[in-house]
Amino acid sequence: MILVTGATGNIGSALLKELQLVGAGPLRGLTRDTARAAFPVGVEAAEGDLAQTASLEPALQGVRSLFLLSRMGPDTEILDAARRAGVEHVVLASSITVQTHPHLGPAEENLTVEDLLKASGMAWTILRPTQFASNALWWADAIRAHETVRVPYADVGLPTIHPADIASVARLALTESGRRERTYALTGPERITPRQQAGAIAAALGREVPFAEIGREEALGQMAAFLGYEAADAVLDVTGGDVNDELLTVRDTVSRITGTPARTFRQWAAENADAFR
Ligand SMILES: NC(=O)c1ccc[n+]([C@@H]2O[C@H](COP(=O)([O-])OP(=O)(O)OC[C@H]3O[C@@H](n4cnc5c(N)ncnc54)[C@H](OP(=O)(O)O)[C@@H]3O)[C@@H](O)[C@H]2O)c1
Repeated sequence: MILVTGATGNIGSALLKELQLVGAGPLRGLTRDTARAAFPVGVEAAEGDLAQTASLEPALQGVRSLFLLSRMGPDTEILDAARRAGVEHVVLASSITVQTHPHLGPAEENLTVEDLLKASGMAWTILRPTQFASNALWWADAIRAHETVRVPYADVGLPTIHPADIASVARLALTESGRRERTYALTGPERITPRQQAGAIAAALGREVPFAEIGREEALGQMAAFLGYEAADAVLDVTGGDVNDELLTVRDTVSRITGTPARTFRQWAAENADAFR
C-alpha cells in the first residue's frame, strides 16, 4: 500500500493519477476531509490530519511506502508513527532552499526533517524542488476579477517547476528500485520571470493580464497577513530579494530521471487556464 499525503494538492493529486496509471498497486490518499476529496476511482480516501499524529494511525495501517509533505505537522511524531506502522520507504517533499538558503528558518526546518528521516531506520528519498509554477495561483483572484497583478521582483527569472514533474519523480522513487538513499534537487527546464509568467497566463486566456511591479515592503505587508512575517520575508528572499547561483541554476534532474523533458510554465498555464477565468 502506498499512502500519498497532500493528496488533494498540486503534487499529490498528480502523483495519485500517475501511480494509478502505471498500476502501482493499492493506493491511499490522505485528506482532512474525505467528503470534499475527489480521488481517482480505485484510490482509497483516508481521513487524517498531519497536525494531529494520532489521527494518522488508521491511514498508516498496512502502508509500506509513504509520500510525505514536509513541515505540515510534527514531523518527528509523524515519522515515528510511520515506522511503528511498518512503513519501509518514505519519499519526502522538502525544498531546494535547504541548499540555496540554509540560513533561513523554513530551510533549517526542512533540513531537520531530512535528517530525522535519514536517521529513522526507514529507507528514504528526498526531493528538493524549487519554486512551483502553481504559486501563480496566488494571482488567480486578481486575474479572474480583471484586476492588476501586483508582484515584487517582476524581472527575476527562476527555474520554476511544474508540480506534475515533482509527482513524476516521486512516482519513480516510489515504484523503482535504485532511487533510495538519494537526494534530488529539482527544477523546471528554464528560468521564467513573474512578468513572463503573467504573459503566459494571458496567452492561455487569450486576453491581456494587467501587471505591475511592487516594492518589497508592500509585498511583505500583503504576504505576512497569510504566511506570518518570517515565512513571508523568507519567500521574498528566495523569489528575488536574495537569489544566488545555486537557486538560479537550471538542472536536468527531472529529464534524467523521467526520460522526458521537464514541463514548462507555459504548459502549466495552458493546463490551468480555467483557474484564472
Ligand atoms: N510552493 C512552492 O514553491 C514550494 C517549494 C518547495 C517546497 N514546497 C513544499 O511543497 C508542499 C506543498 O505541496 P503542494 O503544492 O502539492 O501542496 P498544496 O497544493 O498546497 O496542498 C496542500 C495539501 O496538503 C493537505 N494538507 C494541508 N494541511 C494538512 C494537514 N494538517 N493534514 C493533512 N493534510 C494537509 C491539503 O489537503 P486537504 O485540504 O484535502 O486535507 C492539500 O492537499 C509544502 O510542503 C511546501 O513546503 C513548496
